[in-house]
Amino acid sequence: MKLTSQSIHTTHPAILVEDLCLTWPNGTQALRSCSLKVPKGEFWMLLGTNGSGKSTLLRLLTGLLSPQTGKIHFEGRMGFVFQNPDHQLVMPTVGADVAFGLVEERLSQLQIRHRVEDALSAVNMLDLQRRSIYALSGGQKQRIAIAGAIARNCDILLLDEPTALLDPDSQLELVTQVQSLVKNRGMTALWVTHRLNELDYSDGAFLLDQGQVLDRGNPQLLKRHLM
Ligand SMILES: Nc1ncnc2c1ncn2[C@@H]1O[C@H](COP(=O)(O)OP(=O)(O)OP(=O)(O)O)[C@@H](O)[C@H]1O
Ligand SMILES: [Mg+2]
Repeated sequence: MKLTSQSIHTTHPAILVEDLCLTWPNGTQALRSCSLKVPKGEFWMLLGTNGSGKSTLLRLLTGLLSPQTGKIHFEGRMGFVFQNPDHQLVMPTVGADVAFGLVEERLSQLQIRHRVEDALSAVNMLDLQRRSIYALSGGQKQRIAIAGAIARNCDILLLDEPTALLDPDSQLELVTQVQSLVKNRGMTALWVTHRLNELDYSDGAFLLDQGQVLDRGNPQLLKRHLM
């Protein structure tokens, strides 16, 4: 089944991946000539069975890994949200953690405060600014990680199974929050998931299979195909 051609998207893509290949030192071919485009200002999802190459692709996009062949092009600043938020929250309190990503920018204390408050408001976490990060639920930690990317003015958000540890209510809250960030702030998001109900909130989806994009396009068609 082919869903829709991506040529319908005439705007310049925020993420462009062409013929990406990555073979691990043990010989595992994680990506084989993988190509995709995520249009600017849209919320796209990436699905595929365990081991199909989703996390490898995201790690290549962030620059944590380099491809053996192929091209990656993206426009703007990229933020990354890991599956386990404990792996990326580094400061003792919520506010300090969101501010941590701003240390390399030449900002005044007041500018930092404004950026942190704006980012925390965007994910409905402003009232928890002084809370210890150890006293947060999994969903709240994911939202803090997203607030960190907003504070840094990221244009692109990559999220690797951000709802894997969340209950259905927190899952819904997070997916709708990212949907509204894309709509209201013009961000572009690529969200990895195994949960088909999340496709309802996306503008499009890719199905990865053995390191290649097997299908792409309309999320509802993809959902029906997979159910
Ligand atoms: N560090 C590594 N060394 C060797 N092989 C690896 C390494 N990391 C991943 N792989 C292999 O690369 C392939 C793709 O892995 P990847 O983690 O990208 O899959 P995934 O689609 O994210 O799976 P999941 O749904 O389980 O998270 C798998 O075959 C995996 O075993
Ligand atoms: Mg993975």
